[in-house]
Amino acid sequence: FNVPIAINEPVKSYAPGTPERDAVLKAYKDMYASKVDVPLYINGQYVTTENTKTMSPPHDHKHIVGTYHLAKKKHVDEAIATALEARKTWSLMPWEQRAAIFLKAAELVAGPYRYKINAATMIAQSKNIFQAEIDAACELVDFLRFNVQYMTEIYSEQPKSTSDAWNRVEYRPLEGFTYAVTPFNFTAIAGNLPACMALMGNVVVWKPSDSQVYSAKIIMDIFEEAGVPPGVINVVFGDPVMISETVLSSPDFSGLHFTGSTFVFKELWKQIGNNIHNYKTYPRIVGETGGKDFIMAHNTAIPKQVSTAIVRGAFEYQGQKCSAASRAYIPKSLWAEVKNFILEDVKSFKMGSPEDMGNFITAVIHEGSFDKLAKYIDAAKKDADAEIIAGGNYDKSKGYFIEPTVIVTTNPNYTTMHTELFGPVITIYVYEDDAYADTLKLVDSTSEYALTGAILATDRYAITQATTALQNCAGNFYINDKCTGAVVGQQPFGGARASGTNDKAGSPQNLLRWVSTRLIKETF
Ligand code: SER
Repeated sequence: FNVPIAINEPVKSYAPGTPERDAVLKAYKDMYASKVDVPLYINGQYVTTENTKTMSPPHDHKHIVGTYHLAKKKHVDEAIATALEARKTWSLMPWEQRAAIFLKAAELVAGPYRYKINAATMIAQSKNIFQAEIDAACELVDFLRFNVQYMTEIYSEQPKSTSDAWNRVEYRPLEGFTYAVTPFNFTAIAGNLPACMALMGNVVVWKPSDSQVYSAKIIMDIFEEAGVPPGVINVVFGDPVMISETVLSSPDFSGLHFTGSTFVFKELWKQIGNNIHNYKTYPRIVGETGGKDFIMAHNTAIPKQVSTAIVRGAFEYQGQKCSAASRAYIPKSLWAEVKNFILEDVKSFKMGSPEDMGNFITAVIHEGSFDKLAKYIDAAKKDADAEIIAGGNYDKSKGYFIEPTVIVTTNPNYTTMHTELFGPVITIYVYEDDAYADTLKLVDSTSEYALTGAILATDRYAITQATTALQNCAGNFYINDKCTGAVVGQQPFGGARASGTNDKAGSPQNLLRWVSTRLIKETF
């Protein structure tokens, strides 16, 4: 198969004086000052409805940057019908045609749309420019490029034939239509979920998060310009319960590609179960859900490496990555040094609007998230077995700002050691050096989720112990690194237990979920 070799999109620096810094700031300011209107996108048409909602940046919630339109049931029905109609031609299209569309989409993101999609991600999802760049620009481009390569790897897997019988496998799209439900925290994931299903020949109804509408609109513009035909990917915003009920009750529903909360994924799975007798085929179910990702340090670890893993893992993008570190286990002999490094780093962070590029921390996504985080921080201020050593303040008067907060607990089962908070709060438990093996057992027994985790140590046997004891605790396990920052094409991403079905985003394994193979045997 002759396709362009997939390469990771280089990350731009946005250092002062660079052209990219000026360009993204200009895009940010222009978009901030104007109002965008985001309709639904059905059958290649932008569809307005009578119901709209306003959009405001989380870091400046009184400012309105636009409106978006909410679907009624009839719009969702229309999206399904139009997808099924589009399938008639899309599913017959040679793979090169589909690949060319998504490769073009990658180049549009990397080139003409780069600053716009980054600015939308900064405005609506409150990412600082560096977090926006590695997500909305680079990771999205990487997904689009690498999926084409993986598709050809899949297609080249063929059975043995004999001189009088030719066996071949066709990797057909699923019959019916698929459903993508995407999160606010990664523009790249939002774009990848519908795109990778469509790349494999499927048609899609896509429900983006209400907090990611702005960048979803830009993704749709890019897909349209790249040549995705009308009806192949349809976007509906609005009441998630109504939208999912409508989609999942269709007999033609054939696959769910989900990233979001564990609770919602389980609810959708239950609904699929309840409808199972109505479907024409068994639907594929793929989900990446919650996490309570850990950093485990051994007493042979390098203290500065441990503190960097904690600080970057816990506080980049305000701790709202699914991979974010939210609990850490540190041996007593290292603690004083690790603690000092953490406090130094946290003190140096500036917090505020992403427009000021010196701000490392911006706002959390919405008031619900802010209130939840504030509640757990307040509890930690009172609880006898917890102490806040950094941060602990919050303010929602202008934006939903929570200081990066470090809680130290004497109780390894303290609430914030196992409850997913999805914000800039990490809880640390300091263990006795000679209790390493027991602490590993403790981590395993308290890992309801299993998305990411890291072991930091220089002793190879300690690394072996951790790798073995924690084998079911993380789908992405890092040795001497932070637990965030998986790169497409290098670290396929996903977890098990309550974190999902572990069908690694950005991998051939994931794409295989979106095909139904036909074996053809021809004799001569
Ligand atoms: N790539 C992200 C991370 O690992 C998740 O999508 O942080």
